[in-house]
Amino acid sequence: MALLHSGRVLPGIAAAFHPGLAAAASARASSWWTHVEMGPPDPILGVTEAFKRDTNSKKMNLGVGAYRDDNGKPYVLPSVRKAEAQIAAKNLDKEYLPIGGLAEFCKASAELALGENSEVLKSGRFVTVQTISGTGALRIGASFLQRFFKFSRDVFLPKPTWGNHTPIFRDAGMQLQGYRYYDPKTCGFDFTGAVEDISKIPEQSVLLLHACAHNPTGVDPRPEQWKEIATVVKVERLIKEFSIYMTKDGRISVAGVTSSNVGYLAHAIHQVTK
Ligand SMILES: Cc1ncc(COP(=O)(O)O)c(C=O)c1O
Repeated sequence: MALLHSGRVLPGIAAAFHPGLAAAASARASSWWTHVEMGPPDPILGVTEAFKRDTNSKKMNLGVGAYRDDNGKPYVLPSVRKAEAQIAAKNLDKEYLPIGGLAEFCKASAELALGENSEVLKSGRFVTVQTISGTGALRIGASFLQRFFKFSRDVFLPKPTWGNHTPIFRDAGMQLQGYRYYDPKTCGFDFTGAVEDISKIPEQSVLLLHACAHNPTGVDPRPEQWKEIATVVKVERLIKEFSIYMTKDGRISVAGVTSSNVGYLAHAIHQVTK
């Protein structure tokens, strides 16, 4: 704020964002902003541009995940219309929310994401904060990690991931790493590659997973593959931290377990699954 009010910076900001003042200040502003380069074109939005240019009468645009009617016009689901009407009928007061958002909304969101009967919910091992959109949530999450996660700056993203994940995590000061995800040969999930890469991720790194409807590929692991991914993360901790080895499907061999080390084993399993 101090910078904005200093009088030196304010005219430049006004020139950039206030069309009425832009002309008067353009000479000065141009020298201030000439180093700003145009961002790279967005490949997904580029599909829409190509769609608009195409003259084929049977054309369809599958580039942006939004509903369209038979004429290609935006289609709002009746359930959304109904929800809007219900909210409007409540005559809400438009007051500011607490900094963490609306408690009821946060609770309902956590229940939706984790399942009403989730053990994580019941034991209170979660925190929910309301943000503006998925982009806003990622930005806040990335900044939170950068500021408070003291173990590592590395964040492992699926290859590929949604376009804005890369700049969001990079601009928040995290180091971008990746794991194999999409296999162009099968147009499907590269399960072997993903498991291989995830198993090599150093302990206490940040692993970003798309819980469903992976964007942009639309390719998701099957439920049993999710289980194996979770097992890999835990098995690797058992090996690296406790030197405990097990079969790939998560079974622990009874050979080697004695009354003197069973407590150690139980402790290790508790540490990685708590
Ligand atoms: C994986 C992923 N991350 C981020 C976003 C951005 O979300 P929003 O449009 O709500 O900002 C999207 C949007 O489709 C997404 O699919």
